[in-house]
Amino acid sequence: MSDDQDNGQDTGRALPERGLPAERVLGDVKALRAGDRPTHGGRLFAYVYDPAVPGLDELAAAAHAGSAHVNGLDPTAFPSLLAMENALVGAASRLLGGGTGTNAPDVVGSVTSGGTESLILAVKAARDARPDVAAPRIAVPTTAHAAFAKAAHYLRVALDPVPVDPVTLRPSAAAVAAAIGPDTVLVACSAPSYAHGVVDPVAEIAAVAAGAGVRCHVDACFGGWTLPWLRRLGEPVPPFDFAVAGVTSISVDLHKYAYAPKGVSVLLHRTPALRAPQFFAYAGWPGYTMVNPVIASTRSGGPIAAAYATLRHLGEDGYLRLAAATRDAVAGLADAVRCTHGLRLLAEPESTVVCFTSTDPTLDLFVLVDELTARGWHTQPQLSYGDLPASVHLTVTAAVAPRVAEFGPDLADAAAAARAAGPVELPAGLTALAATLTPDALTPELVAGLAAALGLGAAVADPGPAAAGGGAESGPGGGFAPDATVNALLDAAPPALRERLLVEFVGLLQRPTY
Ligand SMILES: Cc1ncc(COP(=O)(O)O)c(C=O)c1O
Repeated sequence: MSDDQDNGQDTGRALPERGLPAERVLGDVKALRAGDRPTHGGRLFAYVYDPAVPGLDELAAAAHAGSAHVNGLDPTAFPSLLAMENALVGAASRLLGGGTGTNAPDVVGSVTSGGTESLILAVKAARDARPDVAAPRIAVPTTAHAAFAKAAHYLRVALDPVPVDPVTLRPSAAAVAAAIGPDTVLVACSAPSYAHGVVDPVAEIAAVAAGAGVRCHVDACFGGWTLPWLRRLGEPVPPFDFAVAGVTSISVDLHKYAYAPKGVSVLLHRTPALRAPQFFAYAGWPGYTMVNPVIASTRSGGPIAAAYATLRHLGEDGYLRLAAATRDAVAGLADAVRCTHGLRLLAEPESTVVCFTSTDPTLDLFVLVDELTARGWHTQPQLSYGDLPASVHLTVTAAVAPRVAEFGPDLADAAAAARAAGPVELPAGLTALAATLTPDALTPELVAGLAAALGLGAAVADPGPAAAGGGAESGPGGGFAPDATVNALLDAAPPALRERLLVEFVGLLQRPTY
């Protein structure tokens, strides 16, 4: 490939024969990034959290760079990291009902790499606190984040799904109670759920869990850093934090609404004793004794320092201001949905999510999503599940506020275009195939055939540097952005088949480039 470089046809190889100048390399990364969805500007309603605060990115990047090579493996070797980590945990604790008040619980916590790691560790701590239970189980609402299922899978804990009311989108305390058995080690609830932005009845659920002697984890990964500010702004936020007696642990992601760069979440426990089984220690080898509070052992100080800098720069007044802007943006977007014929809010917004569905069979939500994309609005389609219809999810951040006025007309326009285009018609036989195919019957050949039938063949067969990041001609997101046809196919398939199909597709995408 060095020949390619010599010919000026560099393929973007990660390890060229001869190293390239810094400027050139940065230019390459920038070129690859050009095909990504826009992380800033308030037009991407998932994946990113943008406060649109001038200078904040630069500050966080500088703090990140200064600690990137510091290793969280040993807090005694790098006290700077320990100090910043303790300060972050303290800030999260104080915000969520811990702190130094006389009646405040003795909350402790750890900084993890993200919400998923926090949830896995909450499940691990609950599991390992009950060595008497041979086959532990967790009771989790069906609307709770998929990371609980991942935790159950990784930790070999059985998952008991708790049904939610199809109208309120919340589990009842009675349904939680019914799911608790002698082997239940943890009950979970969300504040709020990611998909719909609905806050579960935490106080009632925690009471049921406490009555059964079971831990109760509140997944506030998404909302833990917004609900307290919204409450201070006068919004009716129900009790969801350590002020609720039965709540034993809470997760809150700083890389979401604390607006820190990615790689930081906080897992809090009501007491040190509740946290103890989260830790892992091992001295049975000739090297250093490994003591890990979290899953990773070597950990970069970068994300922790960046989060620390972000929190200190924004301060309480900054977060309050950003929460107010976000609340107003949510109200404006929800109004736009209410004004659009054929759309209905799936839940009245009570946090920072706007989620809507279609009430008109001629208005296909997945087509609408594509029409919005064509107009520069990147929304997140959600497939139907059980008795819950397909929906469109908008994670709203402060950066959306100045854009709200543009959204309404574009939404109306996109809805009209989607109606004119009509619902997706899958290639003949594909709907029936999707509905009847079992995951086991999915061979790589069949997946390749499906990919080809859906027009994904070229993109997945040869992503190349352009499709990996610079495929402008195939739209934002590169060469494999699932479109309405793919979503319609997935929607027709049962969840187990969706999983298999997407695993196969992602497996096709994740191929080394040489
Ligand atoms: C409620 C909730 N829990 C957990 C997670 C998982 O977080 P992460 O993607 O940081 O692992 C998310 C992510 O959106 C979430 O919204």
